[in-house]
Amino acid sequence: MTFQLAGSGPEIYERVMVPLWFGKWAKSLLDSISLEPGDRVLDVACGTGVTTRLAKDRVGHQGLVKGLDVNAAMLAKAMKLAAGRDIGWVESDVVESGFPDGSFDAVISQHGYHYFPDKPAALIEMGRLLAPGGRLAFSIWDGHCPYTEAICKALEQHVSPQIASQQRSQRETPTAEDLERQVRAAGFSRVTLLRQEQLIDVPLAEEFVPLHLGSMPIAGAFAALSEKRKRMLIDQISTMLQPYVVAGRIRYPDAVHVVIAQM
Ligand SMILES: C[S@@+](CC[C@H](N)C(=O)[O-])C[C@H]1O[C@@H](n2cnc3c(N)ncnc32)[C@H](O)[C@@H]1O
Repeated sequence: MTFQLAGSGPEIYERVMVPLWFGKWAKSLLDSISLEPGDRVLDVACGTGVTTRLAKDRVGHQGLVKGLDVNAAMLAKAMKLAAGRDIGWVESDVVESGFPDGSFDAVISQHGYHYFPDKPAALIEMGRLLAPGGRLAFSIWDGHCPYTEAICKALEQHVSPQIASQQRSQRETPTAEDLERQVRAAGFSRVTLLRQEQLIDVPLAEEFVPLHLGSMPIAGAFAALSEKRKRMLIDQISTMLQPYVVAGRIRYPDAVHVVIAQM
């Protein structure tokens, strides 16, 4: 599974998905780890930097904050949004940061872990970067939600099983038990698993689906559909999500697992 955006993907991601999805989860992730003024924080798989900027707000001007991501286009957007703020940016795979041992008091990561090709190596590397007593806090989806289930079913019917499977994999995440085992196996202690749930509120499918899919790795496949196919796809999603429509918006529950651990 990958998450690589190009073209207008990072722009739509920041403009649409960050306010509706990722910004909300960023706040709840950072609320689960008590950052102190002056802390040194690394945000792994920082994307356009929503969690990185929030971490900087919390550690203040004495704190040191760096965002790391493998995708140059996402980082370029992050840098632009944080212009004038004292945040460092690193283009690198999670396992190749090159920072010295014990460089950070906290390593955070939102919706990145399930994309790392070698999860044990990523966990060991994040542990290596933490100072003694340093904390790891990362979040990933707790599987699918009603909205993503509807999207994947409609993609299967109106695009192709391959594209549906690529999209479905975005939410194929480890269970809480697997996460805990993986983090302990990398040498972390005091491992805590939290399940956070939120009611997500997005525009109706006609408006939201093209924006959401435009910010996903399958954006090209969606853009290549005929207008008639797009219409059929969106109509099917609208029908499936009808039970969640309230006052002209789609409101559905979604959940993440947050892992907090200490080195
Ligand atoms: C869904 S986005 C989340 C971005 C950001 N954390 C947020 O909450 O908005 C996933 C990010 O993981 C990054 N990523 C995927 N694999 C990575 C890897 N092996 N090393 C570093 N970053 C990675 C992608 O480039 C992408 O920016």
